[in-house]
Amino acid sequence: MTLPREIAQAAAILQAGGLVAMPTETVYGLAGDARNPAAVAKIFAVKQRPATHPLIVHVTGPEMIKEWARETPEIALKLAKAFWPGPLTLILKKRPEVLDSVTGNQDTVALRMPRHPIAQALLQRFGGGLVAPSANRFTRISPTTAQAVYDELGDQVDMILDGGPCEVGLESTIIDLSQIVPRILRPGMIAAETLRDIIGVDVISAEPQSEVRAPGMHHLHYAPVTRTQLIPARDQGSLEKITQPTVCLTWSGLSHPSVHCVRMPDNASRYAQMLYANLRAQDQQQYQQILIEAVPEDTAWDAIRDRLSKASGQSGK
Ligand code: TXA
Ligand code: MG
Repeated sequence: MTLPREIAQAAAILQAGGLVAMPTETVYGLAGDARNPAAVAKIFAVKQRPATHPLIVHVTGPEMIKEWARETPEIALKLAKAFWPGPLTLILKKRPEVLDSVTGNQDTVALRMPRHPIAQALLQRFGGGLVAPSANRFTRISPTTAQAVYDELGDQVDMILDGGPCEVGLESTIIDLSQIVPRILRPGMIAAETLRDIIGVDVISAEPQSEVRAPGMHHLHYAPVTRTQLIPARDQGSLEKITQPTVCLTWSGLSHPSVHCVRMPDNASRYAQMLYANLRAQDQQQYQQILIEAVPEDTAWDAIRDRLSKASGQSGK
């Protein structure tokens, strides 16, 4: 477990412009000082991420919103009160001094208060905002363990804080509150209806052709290196006639003698929790292809369906 001494050391690294990988409840983040242009530049370089993909600023709580956003709409406070700390990112109109490199030159900034105790301790000790994109190379699967961070980024990170496997396992829900109508830019395990219930107004989903530089608006985001394909739910026929080494992730219990079938939970939260770790593990084997059984249609699975279509390059975005 992480000691106060390690938190102090990590905060000192961040203050000096270094990078620290920290656990959050969603995925591990690559943290740097959000006010330090050199630290932000280093994050983009380490991740090999294009400058047009803005970063989320992680904060200690709703009291910090006004340091980054020039307007705090009532619904932002309602959502922060309901879901922070937790896997929800709010897009708000930014204050002028927020670095353009953080926002991708947009007029908005993304804010989130993480729930993991180590992330919270680090933010408290650091005393400012931390940009923290998922600690993976661009387009790759987000890491959900400290080992996965090391496998992705190795020695390019000054320190990796180990907080165990992530509890949620998928990246936060992102909701844009900078326009009149709230809009989900990235589905996450906090579903659209849940948000709608709190704010009492309708919430729309991002159009694929949207101008907003939302995450995963990219063919092959969150993708394994091994060729990955979706197969229809409960379709035993998809496993017939396979001759090359194949692994299949199945929640319904598909099986076939010539395919290595990995049983996934049939519950959305538990499935989300282990999806990336499983994809990563299977990607490291010598399979020719990864098959993933399509997940149930109901909204509890929305975020998972989104990531699966991106992992298999079927999103068409
Ligand atoms: O769960 C999470 O959100 C994790 C953990 C570490 O907190 N972080 C994460 O960061 O997923 P990242 O950088 O991998 O994804 C954040 C996405 C970016 O792809 C970016 O497109 C979007 O948030 N984003 C950030 N600022 C934005 C803005 N101002 N407008 C629209 N999208 C924005
Ligand atoms: Mg990411």
